[in-house]
Amino acid sequence: MYLCLRKEAKKMKIQIINGPNLNLLGVREPDVYGNVSFAAYFTQLQAIFPDVELDYFQSNIEGEIVDKIHEAGFGFDGIVLNAAGYTHTSVAIRDAIKAVPAPVVEVHMSNVFAREEFRHRSMLSAVCEGIIVGFGLDSYRLAIEALRGKNKKQEQDKKRKNYA
Ligand code: DQA
Repeated sequence: MYLCLRKEAKKMKIQIINGPNLNLLGVREPDVYGNVSFAAYFTQLQAIFPDVELDYFQSNIEGEIVDKIHEAGFGFDGIVLNAAGYTHTSVAIRDAIKAVPAPVVEVHMSNVFAREEFRHRSMLSAVCEGIIVGFGLDSYRLAIEALRGKNKKQEQDKKRKNYA
């Protein structure tokens, strides 16, 4: 008789954080941001990534976004952050990203570089792992793909070291 001791593969954990006004997705400026709510899209993301534990948080308040980065930044394997308007202004969110070990991917639905000049500057990009801009809601899926790819590579490197 064989006893199976193989450990269940642990699911990767990704925190999605949306900043101000993104609670109005689907209603707000549909010509720029589309007409799908984030709640509806989040259900799609969960179906696309059954192997990833996804958590969603939205706030219109800068300090709450900082708190969430602190909270997720030590326990999650990655953060997908659309800081919305705070992207262009927030030193506090930039410092929070720098303060935690989890890799952060900055996302924007619209192509911020094709819009007003004040949107061309990000306080966050330089301290993020990478940025994904301009693919509508699909920007979030692409960011999760990127974090998942990075995590898989790290796991493989770890295994390889253990067997070396
Ligand atoms: C945004 C772009 C920001 O400039 C803007 O303030 C937003 C949304 C985007 O996803 O395209 O609120 O982050």
